[in-house]
Amino acid sequence: MTSRAFESLDEVFSKFLQNKDSIFKDREALSHGYVPYKLYHREKQYKSIFEALLTGYKNKNSFILCYGDAGTGKTSLIMSLLNKISKKCEEIGCNDIFTSLINCRLTTTKYRILVNLISQIGLPIPSRLNFNKLFQRFKKEIDTKNRFIILVLDEIDRIFGNSSKNAKNIANLLISLSNQLKNTKLCIIGISKDLNFKNHLSAEFLSNISIYLCEFQPYNANEMRYILSERVILGFCPGVVSERVLNLIAVFSAEAGGDARYALCLLQKAGELAERNGEKTITEEHVKNVRKILKNSNSKYNGYCKIN
Ligand SMILES: Nc1ncnc2c1ncn2[C@@H]1O[C@H](COP(=O)(O)OP(=O)(O)OP(=O)(O)O)[C@@H](O)[C@H]1O
Ligand SMILES: [Mg+2]
Repeated sequence: MTSRAFESLDEVFSKFLQNKDSIFKDREALSHGYVPYKLYHREKQYKSIFEALLTGYKNKNSFILCYGDAGTGKTSLIMSLLNKISKKCEEIGCNDIFTSLINCRLTTTKYRILVNLISQIGLPIPSRLNFNKLFQRFKKEIDTKNRFIILVLDEIDRIFGNSSKNAKNIANLLISLSNQLKNTKLCIIGISKDLNFKNHLSAEFLSNISIYLCEFQPYNANEMRYILSERVILGFCPGVVSERVLNLIAVFSAEAGGDARYALCLLQKAGELAERNGEKTITEEHVKNVRKILKNSNSKYNGYCKIN
């Protein structure tokens, strides 16, 4: 490589480190893992989940099922709700409410679910015990006084959509938790793309618990535009994204099923394309090109939004 090539590589690298000349203000705000403090157009869901939690706290064990298509804000809303609850508990010195969020696509056995639950709520129980011993220790430790556990099982349809042994084992764990805890109350929040998965839950489980359903509808183009405009302010320098571009992404993503993750993916990747071309603004052409690339990659988007 010539010294000139090295020089320009050097320049690119230092620009990258200094974030100099970038059209992005904060890339993190556009990433799929970012949890917004406020979720727009989800006030109704927020309120009904919160009310169900309060009822569960005062009365009996409850199961809240949040269902809706991909990218409709289910996980983000619950994460934001849990963050707020934990913060509030810290503020007022309440140490009786525990929250735990477990992804069932990644955590597929009752043993792993229990270990994660114990570690997320911070109980001092060694995880090297077998399942029965671990469950007994957990029960003893948590049930010494009135407590409230909010256990979120994200992508719960991944385990209950089939009749595997693991699904039955996990169902049994949920039954044991809801039946055997005497002082501690439990609220399980299941997040699912498929409402029908609840047919796989046993009558024994359902009969013993209050059930709440909360639907997350796909976003329409107007709602999407609003969600995107908030992220544009956070993610890009002023003037990079025009109203026309914003509208186009909102329309494309509403047409593609009202999926906010897809909308954010289009926005982020169009920004990257503009930046790679050395341009200071995102054009409609950038958006159309990214959409084409995503279409050709055989899926609406791949979960991590990698197109290059
Ligand atoms: N109402 C909203 N306001 C702001 N951002 C949102 C909103 N809804 C979704 N998002 C954003 O869209 C992305 C996808 O949302 P989320 O992961 O919560 O969807 P989901 O319904 O859990 O999808 P899946 O079923 O595929 O897991 C996230 O980056 C999230 O921040
Ligand atoms: Mg999700």
